[in-house]
Amino acid sequence: MGKRYTTDTQMNSKELSSQTKLIRSGIARSSFDETSEGMFLTSGFVYSSAEEAEATFLGQRERYIYSRYGNPTVSMFEKRLAALEGAEHCQATASGMSAVYTSLIGLLQSGSRVVASRALFGSCFVILSDLLPRFGVKVDFVDGPDILAWDKALSTPCDVVFLESPSNPTLELIDIAHVSGLAKQAGAKLVVDNVFATPLYQKPLELGADVVVYSATKHIDGQGRVLGGAILCAEDLFREAYQPYIRHTGPSMSPFNAWVLTKSLETLSLRVDAQSDAAMALADWLEKQPSVASVRYPGHASHPQHALAKRQMKKFGTVLAFSVKDTGEGGKAAAFKMMNKLQLIDISNNLGDSKSLITHPATTTHRALSEEARLAVGIDAGLVRLSVGLEHVDDLRSDLERALS
Ligand SMILES: Cc1ncc(COP(=O)(O)O)c(C=O)c1O
Repeated sequence: MGKRYTTDTQMNSKELSSQTKLIRSGIARSSFDETSEGMFLTSGFVYSSAEEAEATFLGQRERYIYSRYGNPTVSMFEKRLAALEGAEHCQATASGMSAVYTSLIGLLQSGSRVVASRALFGSCFVILSDLLPRFGVKVDFVDGPDILAWDKALSTPCDVVFLESPSNPTLELIDIAHVSGLAKQAGAKLVVDNVFATPLYQKPLELGADVVVYSATKHIDGQGRVLGGAILCAEDLFREAYQPYIRHTGPSMSPFNAWVLTKSLETLSLRVDAQSDAAMALADWLEKQPSVASVRYPGHASHPQHALAKRQMKKFGTVLAFSVKDTGEGGKAAAFKMMNKLQLIDISNNLGDSKSLITHPATTTHRALSEEARLAVGIDAGLVRLSVGLEHVDDLRSDLERALS
């Protein structure tokens, strides 16, 4: 009989490509030998004896205890994503925001200092600007693309650096390798929200990050069905910083969601490659439209950090942003008019979906920011974010052409 790839170590080896890992990693077959991954919808597990239960709670036996701690279906998702990311450990969470919050709170205490990029998804900004300071955490924001600002902010001791690259929705990039070097000197752990780049196109751990977080709700599901999140890091860091917090506060992923997301990973690269190619084609086309004031897409030569994008990312992602020209009634009115004329692309604040989705960040996802904070990160009233889906690119172009006319 030929060699079978069975153990996690074999599956995670560099011998196999990402595409193969997305199909094969993490499988734990039950005694029924099913082809497709089993869904273990169970909150608890039984012990063969009181002694076994005692030994388990004493830490003498490794086994499933309770689904808040771990579950076989959730483990399959975690192992598959860890293999793709090249991480020792993956912890699945109930949503992207629970991953972001847990990744921060596990490393912080009263008196800690965080340095973060200013251009962040709205809820991430609220955690950093409003919630953490309530518990005595000091947070300093810097303009992500400004290398000197990072140098200055990290010249004094710091506990955590948090950044998002590309950022939501203005697609600003941050030089992850440079910031990771500074974070190490400052004594900080670097946490990267890698949602926009996806685990396929940017590998923050290889660039020096300590922790990577995802909203699995976005590209990993990619079909608008379930919420989920993930934290990826080294095994030791997980056990020290995150495991106690997660076990006792319960931001765990449901096994049903984990099953959906495990199956979604099988098609991740096919979907995201096609969506990114379409995003690139639409960015090229949008830039030539007279009613478009500006286009932001890291893969486009007009992006101010295009050179960094080429260095740090394999491809440039499924999301682009553009500002509609103000025709006299204000940028918001121009953007709303265009969005309301779309016949195919849906108005929705989600992204990474197989359906193309458009949103007006100033009035939705980034509404919680003051106007000043929005303008500081380039969210003007005419800006729309377009998450490119899997429809034929010609149909998307026609829809935008009609709406912009
Ligand atoms: C960059 C980024 N991080 C985190 C999140 C939060 O994810 P979730 O909605 O799954 O909680 C989002 C959601 O839009 C996001 O865009």
